[in-house]
Amino acid sequence: MTDSMPPDAAPPEAATPAPRPYSPGLEGVVAAETALGYVDGAAGRLLYRGYRIGDLVERGTYPAVANLLWTGEWEPHHHLPTAAVPDAVLTTLRALPSTAKPMDALRTAVSVWGATQKLEWPPTPEQARALTAFSPSALAAFARIRQGLEPIEPDPDLDLVPGFLYQLNGTPADAGTARALDAYFVVGAEHGLNASTFTARVITSTRSDIASAVAGAIGALKGPLHGGAPTEVVEQIHTVGSPERAEAWVRETIARGERLMGFGHRVYRAYDPRAKALRQVAESMDHKPDWLALAIAVEDVALRVLAELHPDRPLKTNVEFYAAPVLQGVGLTPDLFPATFALARHAGWTAHVLEQAASNRIIRPDANYTGPAERDLPA
Ligand code: ACO
Repeated sequence: MTDSMPPDAAPPEAATPAPRPYSPGLEGVVAAETALGYVDGAAGRLLYRGYRIGDLVERGTYPAVANLLWTGEWEPHHHLPTAAVPDAVLTTLRALPSTAKPMDALRTAVSVWGATQKLEWPPTPEQARALTAFSPSALAAFARIRQGLEPIEPDPDLDLVPGFLYQLNGTPADAGTARALDAYFVVGAEHGLNASTFTARVITSTRSDIASAVAGAIGALKGPLHGGAPTEVVEQIHTVGSPERAEAWVRETIARGERLMGFGHRVYRAYDPRAKALRQVAESMDHKPDWLALAIAVEDVALRVLAELHPDRPLKTNVEFYAAPVLQGVGLTPDLFPATFALARHAGWTAHVLEQAASNRIIRPDANYTGPAERDLPA
């Protein structure tokens, strides 16, 4: 009410704006421009700065791919060892219950790491490198502390993935195991404007720091619809038990309104190229899990049943389905799968942080208001 309005005059009728187009889940909404990853859902293609994911898996390493994302330069022999864990982080990890989820421990570690650093605006490739190198050491430290073991210092001669395995197990990994996990890290490094990357960009857009952005991204990745799926893939395959049970299990699971983990994707309508690459890795591993053949049988049935039930919405295998046998094959326990995915995605998250900061505008979408019209509080 303005000062000039007579005291008993009715307030002017509030104009109700017409609802604007709304896309649940922001599907189809373009909210950023990026030169980092191109996800071609229709053709099942994934490019990092123009390079095909299959070629990067075959000829690259995770440090080279991370460097490509941060700088745009392809240096195939780029070296990135894991980094030491600050005392404040170790103290915090020791204070967590041994039952804490590794994703919670990693998110906490990144947050504490941020508090120990001078992370000035704008974020830099050096900050991205330091955080990406820190997190594997922190996760390995937590995995050991919860078993009553002492954390292991980084070996500066090892690249990031073999270094992570060494700090996890206390012994160097064999070349095949290190190569398989490195391929998984390459495949998981970047994937366009997915939920966790969008979270990192939203946080960065407020001029917050890179550790806050990555801590938030880990929180988003933790959900089973995003990064929590491979753990559940293992559980589901074990529940199926045998190839003969596959068809009945698939149909019963969908009939209960549940989702088959490792299938479907917001963007891919064709077979996920990451699943294709990881299936090859899984099948060529020395230490593949004994349930890999069963998983392949379940996949065949699931694809057939999903095509029958959703003829207009192609639902194919996604990356998580074959991430599960690779991660188990390199010796990780299923509860470490989501946090290991988070380690791999550090390269993409931090590259998006740099890109967002380079041409920043605060991300602030709008909502159509659906609540009650303006009204008086009850007397
Ligand atoms: N199993 C069974 N049915 C499914 C599945 C599935 N995995 N995925 C989708 N559907 C069904 C939906 O229930 C929906 O059915 P309805 O129309 O009868 O309601 C229909 O297919 C269409 O669903 P979409 O719109 O394609 O799904 P959306 O884009 O909302 O979700 C998502 C994509 C979250 C990945 C979904 O497919 C899913 O929950 N998959 C299982 C979890 C999973 O594997 N997550 C990992 C994704 S990859 C990643 O994040 C790294």
